[in-house]
Amino acid sequence: MVAGAAIATPVATMLTKAETINENSDSQQDTKPNKKMKVLLINGSPRHNGNTFCALQEIENQLKSNGIETEIFQIGAMPVRSCLNCGGCRKPDQNGCVFDDDICNTVAQKLSESDALIVGSPVYYGQPNGGVLSLMQRVFFSAGQYAQNKPAAAVAVCRRGGATATFQSMNMMFQMMNMPVVTSQYWNIVYGREKGEAKLDAEGMQTMRTLANNMAFLLKKIHADGQPQYPAREGWQMMNFIR
Ligand SMILES: Cc1cc2nc3c(=O)[nH]c(=O)nc-3n(C[C@H](O)[C@H](O)[C@H](O)COP(=O)(O)O)c2cc1C
Repeated sequence: MVAGAAIATPVATMLTKAETINENSDSQQDTKPNKKMKVLLINGSPRHNGNTFCALQEIENQLKSNGIETEIFQIGAMPVRSCLNCGGCRKPDQNGCVFDDDICNTVAQKLSESDALIVGSPVYYGQPNGGVLSLMQRVFFSAGQYAQNKPAAAVAVCRRGGATATFQSMNMMFQMMNMPVVTSQYWNIVYGREKGEAKLDAEGMQTMRTLANNMAFLLKKIHADGQPQYPAREGWQMMNFIR
């Protein structure tokens, strides 16, 4: 293959969809100056009212005090399929993932109606849990246009170790979606094992509040003049390294 030549795989055709992001990313949103902004917070834990929820709730309260709307969506205990790379979502008449039997398309819809995304995951074996990985991969692959340019942050919650790898793993996905990654005073990590213990992690809770303040600050700057002028994107120059 000629170096730099575009390839016609399902991935390449899907990414062509994302090239229309500048027209699509805010298509379902109110673009008036001073519109109410909304942050979608995904709780990747299957446990209700667990430690990931405590971390996200701390962020939510602080976002609300900054005048930002919020929704915490828990992925819950039902199975989340992983991406099959079937290419079905790349077909021109297909909207979202062809598998509509779990929360993937619901989350994509919620993301389309939100201005920013925060994903919280419990640490499982030093990584985000399986549901979070499957969900993020499928939402971004099948409905990535709704993620483009929206500020994002990851939160990792653990008993003892593996949080930085988990944090980094989620940030890797945001960084491929043109999402500005919002930072805090420390990496977004909270400690706890039994439900509710996270509230005892005073520094972790403070890190969550700082993250919320930084998210609110950035969102208000981005949307200060109404419709943001996002950078124009080149068409995806996709190549692999098989010669
Ligand atoms: C399958 C599994 C694997 C886990 N792996 C880790 C780990 O690698 N490191 C760690 O510190 N905690 C680990 N934990 C503990 C959880 O991260 C911890 O209890 C966390 O608070 C759970 O968050 P939740 O209450 O929101 O579900 C693991 C828990 C489970 C169920």
